[in-house]
Amino acid sequence: MSEEHFKSVISHAKEYGFVFLSSEIYDGLAAVYDYGQNGVELKKNIRDYWWKSMVQLHENIVGIDAAIFMAPQVWKASGHVDGFSDPMIDNKDSKKRYRADVLIEDYQEKYRQKNQKEITKAKKRFGDDFDLEQFVATNPNIARNNAKIAAIDERLKAGLESGNLHLVRELIEELGIACPVSGSKNWTDVRQFNLMYSTQMSATDGDNKIYLRPETAQGIFVNYLNVQKTGRMKLPFGIAQTGKAFRNEIVARQFIMRMKEFEQMEMQFFVSPGEEMEWYQHWKDHRMKWHLNLGIDESKYRFHDHVKLAHYANAAVDIEYDFPFGFKEVEGIHSRTDFDLKQHELATGKKLQYFDNEKNESYVPYVVETSIGLDRMFLVLMSNALQTEDLGEGQSRTVLKLPPALSPFQCAILPLVKKDGLPELAKKIMKDLSLDFNCYYEEKDSIGKRYRRQDAIGTPICITVDHDSLNDQTVTIRYRDTMDQKRVSLEELHAIIEKEVSMKALLSGLV
Ligand code: GAP
Repeated sequence: MSEEHFKSVISHAKEYGFVFLSSEIYDGLAAVYDYGQNGVELKKNIRDYWWKSMVQLHENIVGIDAAIFMAPQVWKASGHVDGFSDPMIDNKDSKKRYRADVLIEDYQEKYRQKNQKEITKAKKRFGDDFDLEQFVATNPNIARNNAKIAAIDERLKAGLESGNLHLVRELIEELGIACPVSGSKNWTDVRQFNLMYSTQMSATDGDNKIYLRPETAQGIFVNYLNVQKTGRMKLPFGIAQTGKAFRNEIVARQFIMRMKEFEQMEMQFFVSPGEEMEWYQHWKDHRMKWHLNLGIDESKYRFHDHVKLAHYANAAVDIEYDFPFGFKEVEGIHSRTDFDLKQHELATGKKLQYFDNEKNESYVPYVVETSIGLDRMFLVLMSNALQTEDLGEGQSRTVLKLPPALSPFQCAILPLVKKDGLPELAKKIMKDLSLDFNCYYEEKDSIGKRYRRQDAIGTPICITVDHDSLNDQTVTIRYRDTMDQKRVSLEELHAIIEKEVSMKALLSGLV
């Protein structure tokens, strides 16, 4: 997928009512987006697919909907007040602000590219005899470049982990990194910049700072005992939640990839200590299956293990998708140990434990988390689905080959003409199908134009009502992906749609 394709995705999303810039008539708000009439349906369907597969199809997972506002002490205990920050540096000439670690990583990337050039040259020279592994292990230039990358890694890590940001600034200076905009090396100090937004809880109290949650997970942790007790839940069990999260991302870019207000779909799975690695593997496999069940090519996905683990994790992996700007994280699976519950126990003095009947003891459960960004998943699906097909004779069509059950509409009902009783029959069909599926009704323009419009918003099935329909109670079904058409009776219509494009059909791939 090219940068060009990505531009088409962004413009298609706007042109067909999927995603708009927030407050666009005021020139927009950076890194904040609104979902339009078709986008909101796609987004809802992704959320439903996640919710049904995680909650409805697991008897030991329940859902909650915690408030966005939480007691501010929650974020102190969770480590977000002190630790949820990025190291930022400003260029005094361009006045641009950068993530210091990203500037350094971009610098390292140059050595990686040099290595890639060596490999490409050698491949050409040695042809079929080329042995990549041996070449990488023995080539002195590659060894030199890798040593430089590793030495920089070491110093960056030392600076970040010790909290001595002076070391990071020194490294930027020594490497001679210049501002990509001004070209100057006139840098400020490196400072930690907290990513949480805050506001005031009330207009009258003095000290009433409150945060907008940067992850939904803490709403689950603070409700662990409520749910466990009232639901009489036995380990292992999960609590799922979808909802908005907010982060002051300084380097927000790439459309809805990195937003300041976004939606997460998270599940915390509570297990007995010692069983977490088994469940970590289970959820890794299960979540990848969820992605691949959407029909996306396997080569577009990969796992990426975290090298540097967060202080609370004993294992962490990202599920990455091959975006036009490379493989990037869509979902994280983290083994969070008992860190969060223990921190909340410490902060509140309340026990957040589980009494294990079999072991006859109480303990704080361990947690395996699955956390996916709904907006990022939306971008995965849009990027993967948008295609321009050459139809020959200078004709082409733009088609959004979304997984049918997730498309904004499962079918469109189109009377061939706007008279002779066809709209009346079409509306009757619409009324029956609308109870189970999201249906689009349209009677304007030629049937060809209407098919194209449905292709562009991803409607998998068009149902055309013509004059014969009045006599023999049959309609034409036209498929988005193949453009094949077939005649079916009104009696079979519901069953066909259910079998081919319903959420039930999609979910059945997971059971
Ligand atoms: N509770 C764990 C957690 O929040 P994370 O890796 O920071 O982990 C989880 O976020 C997911 O949320 C990411 O994999 C990504 O899909 C999504 N996400 C994170 N920051 C985002 C942002 N600024 N814009 C859009 N999605 C974001």
